[in-house]
Amino acid sequence: MRTQVAIIGAGPSGLLLGRLLELAGIDTVILESRAREYVLGRIRAGVLESGTVELLERAGVAQRLHEEALIHDTCGIAYAGGHLSVDLRGLTGKPVIVYGQTEVTKDLMDAREALSMYEAAGVQIHDFDGERPRVTWTGGSLECDFIAGCDGFHGVCRASVPAERIRLYEKTYPFGWLGVLSDTPPVSEELVYVSHERGFALCSQRSRTRSRYYLQCPLSEQVDEWPDERFWAELRRRLPEALATRLVTGPSIEKSIAPLRSFVAEPLSFGRLFLAGDAAHIVPPTGAKGLNLAASDVHYLSSALIDFYKGNEEGLKTYSSRALARVWKAERFSWWLTKLLHLFPEEGQFGRRMQLAELEYLAGSRAAQMALAENYVGLPY
Ligand code: APR
Ligand code: PHB
Repeated sequence: MRTQVAIIGAGPSGLLLGRLLELAGIDTVILESRAREYVLGRIRAGVLESGTVELLERAGVAQRLHEEALIHDTCGIAYAGGHLSVDLRGLTGKPVIVYGQTEVTKDLMDAREALSMYEAAGVQIHDFDGERPRVTWTGGSLECDFIAGCDGFHGVCRASVPAERIRLYEKTYPFGWLGVLSDTPPVSEELVYVSHERGFALCSQRSRTRSRYYLQCPLSEQVDEWPDERFWAELRRRLPEALATRLVTGPSIEKSIAPLRSFVAEPLSFGRLFLAGDAAHIVPPTGAKGLNLAASDVHYLSSALIDFYKGNEEGLKTYSSRALARVWKAERFSWWLTKLLHLFPEEGQFGRRMQLAELEYLAGSRAAQMALAENYVGLPY
């Protein structure tokens, strides 16, 4: 079998890249190790930058999004008696869009006409330094012009690069996020990020009838130690009173713990192999940047590949540096917001007072709110 671009991974990166290339008349094959239903069953992020939405529009998959997504002009931060509502649209002219990554994935899968192979076991990539890269898996092989490594943090593509040719930057955080999805109305119209003595909490949502909540928890914790009643009671304790009294609880329909990590691989291109999305970088979820960074990588990579087939190789040469310039800024923002809002017992009382002083400063300074807002709605491509 032969194709122009072999895409490894059918997460948002691989599917969006495949769709944009398909529309440009470029032949692609997607190879995914999991079943389609498994990929669609993963509950992930839910906040889109307007740049991501524009890309989904270009990909022709934004129709349901425009019908169902919620537009958020503000985002809230609650802390020690204070509540700040950041006027995203007033400060930047842009809102953020609430629409689940699961829905984005479904829309992209439904639109794809070219070949996708799910449950491809033992995928390996070969000869990406030469003119004729190859991909093999149990029972098959594929020749191609390029390989797009869209296979997430644990994928095979980044792992296939010799250690001396790649530099990895990593920071782990000593806690995770325990997330619950429930068919209950969101406690607040805006998303609320909560900095509390007992740990961070986040009130998010997927629709007017479906909520997504998170609690900072120790990494040692197990999901089965958190029956629904314990989760709701702990969330209520961390919420400001006005929200705690309004909280509607119900059975969880998904519950999971995710560790927090900052990670960047450099560079993102190795001959004819290009990394994009979680395969190349991870952000802690606090800034809602994971999916949006995957989209901006795909923006740069898809236009570079389209240019290549029109005879211009410049975009492929600069893909890594252009994508990474934006990635590092989002890494900084996600790290900063994580440090501002979470409980770090090892930082002691002084550390906590510094957080509160910074939150008070944020509440009283238009300049500080502007810095937050322009990053939260997404820096320009
Ligand atoms: N062979 C084939 N497919 C693989 C392999 C492999 N060896 N390893 C991993 N995959 C698949 C995974 O099963 C997954 O479906 O690659 C896909 C990677 O998808 P994601 O992890 O979703 O990564 P990405 O598409 O870059 O999406 C960006 O945004 O909200 C964030 O982290 C969140 O997933 C999200 C990300
Ligand atoms: C979510 O809804 O899952 C979500 C929202 C905002 C974040 C992280 C996750 O910062």
